Amino acid sequence: MCGIIGYVGHREAAPILFASLQKLEYRGYDSYGFATLHQRKIWIRKNKGKISEAGFEKLPGTIGIGHTRWATHGNVEKTNAHPHVDCEKHVAIVHNGIIENFEILKKRLKKDGHKFRSQTDSEIIAHLIENNIGAGVEEAVRRAMLVLGGRSAVVVISRDFDGIIAARTGSPLIVGVGENEYYIASDIPAFLNRTNKVMYLDDGQMVIIEKNKAPVFKDIKSNDIIKKRIITIDWDAEQIEKGKYKHYMIKEIMEQKETIIRALNQDSRAIKKVANEIDKAFGVFLTGCGTAGKVCLTGEYIFSNIANKHVNYVTSSEFPNYKNFLTKKTLLIAVSQSGETADVLEAVKVAKEKGVKVISITNVKGSTLDRMSDYTFLINAGPEKAVASTKATTAQLAILYLLAYSLAKNIDHGKRLLLETASKINDMLNPRYEEHIKKIAKRLHRKKDIFIIGRGFNYPMALESAIKIQEVSYIHAQGFAGGELKHGPIALIEKNTPCIVLTKGEDDHDIISNAMEVKARGGLVIGVGPKRYGVFDLWIKTPSVGVLSPIVNIIPIQLLAYHLGLFRGCEIDTPRNLAKSVTVK
Ligand code: F6R
Repeated sequence: MCGIIGYVGHREAAPILFASLQKLEYRGYDSYGFATLHQRKIWIRKNKGKISEAGFEKLPGTIGIGHTRWATHGNVEKTNAHPHVDCEKHVAIVHNGIIENFEILKKRLKKDGHKFRSQTDSEIIAHLIENNIGAGVEEAVRRAMLVLGGRSAVVVISRDFDGIIAARTGSPLIVGVGENEYYIASDIPAFLNRTNKVMYLDDGQMVIIEKNKAPVFKDIKSNDIIKKRIITIDWDAEQIEKGKYKHYMIKEIMEQKETIIRALNQDSRAIKKVANEIDKAFGVFLTGCGTAGKVCLTGEYIFSNIANKHVNYVTSSEFPNYKNFLTKKTLLIAVSQSGETADVLEAVKVAKEKGVKVISITNVKGSTLDRMSDYTFLINAGPEKAVASTKATTAQLAILYLLAYSLAKNIDHGKRLLLETASKINDMLNPRYEEHIKKIAKRLHRKKDIFIIGRGFNYPMALESAIKIQEVSYIHAQGFAGGELKHGPIALIEKNTPCIVLTKGEDDHDIISNAMEVKARGGLVIGVGPKRYGVFDLWIKTPSVGVLSPIVNIIPIQLLAYHLGLFRGCEIDTPRNLAKSVTVK
């Protein structure tokens, strides 16, 4: 949510900022802007819409910052695009986050005579810095950060300082270490083609990157210097390119031929140890948001069916309401592709305050979630760039299955089943299969509603299917537990209303009855599963994998969502109103 990039080095900053910001566009794409520093003057260009080259090449200097926006406060207007400056243009800032006390701060600043140019909360940071500029820019940034409420990442250039100053109170910031040059960004892909050496900024810390000097990290409150290690990231730059594919989404769907196997590449001792913790815990919660939340909900069924263990899923934004049930004996499993979702981090914070042990399942090593957790399982899916999550979903599910099988003292059997499933997915994802789904998408792409039903393990996947279709094709889609339809939503079924029915190929009688109920009201029934039941008007075959059916059933829906989006001319990788990692509450 909002992408930030900064550069300090010996090369022209503008082209580097431009290329890096394009790589961060999945974090927000309603407007963008750059500022560079040259001969003690700040140069700025900004624009509405997706990143284009308009004017960026005219910015001189070897120090600069850039921002791609996902609007929170203030419309999508050029004036609201970052960077923002103070009254006298001492500084230019880019910001990711939300300043919760911005109204009070803005009122105060206005009273002091500051003139605002935008409707954003972010602009107040520039004016707060200006208020203390007499103390030196580093100290002025530090003082500004001390009064900001909420979660923020801020990067600043100043006409009085030959470098960049950045600070973090919640939203992610990572320093990329090059040869006598440094990057600072909200996500690693921004600079991965230039360096894979990074230094993490933790909450409550700032970094001063002066040209030709090593970065200095400090604690914002105490102003004490903090020592940092350089960490090498094992992602390579090629992984973040589309390669032969038209969109990241289809590339990432297809990568599921390998990613499930990669997810299984876990230390067995760690799996067993965590399974043992789950066993011993008094109260186990799973938490996540959106798609990761649906993975967690599937986890309830996985642990119940495979390991006879009761775990509770609570969507992260609601998790703080459960704090009275948390004790030192509780265990929290947090699932997040990015490891930076604000609601998830808040849930983890609340849990940690109660002494809860936190296990995380994430794709990003060194992410805030990884660093807050007592133990992390990395899903090893490689960078996921399309806003719609696909390969991370099935990899996260694979880890929950591994844990459940380990808890049931049957880990080898579980691994075997998962490997067999991975090989069946490999066979399934062939061009003929995609073509079949494309034909169904063509038939459905003008529909105004699509319903999806499932039972048991496939109920959460019905909810996830709806998310995929909504975000990629903008068709109104809704998922239900099969049994719930008759309690109200069936009133929405008209002649030819599509209803996708997720099945397992065994014990399907109840969901098939629900499909019949839809059919009896004229609905168009699209079956997904290993068996072609008579009630299906259309059928998408998936392999027979028993309790692992969520993993195989969601993949054709990802493909369907992709092709629906294509037929409808949607922005597949960067759907409207969305951003990849949601770093605001
Ligand atoms: C949907 C989607 C979102 C994310 C959610 C959590 O395709 O991607 O619903 O699943 O924003 O993101 P992470 O997993 O990064 O915490």
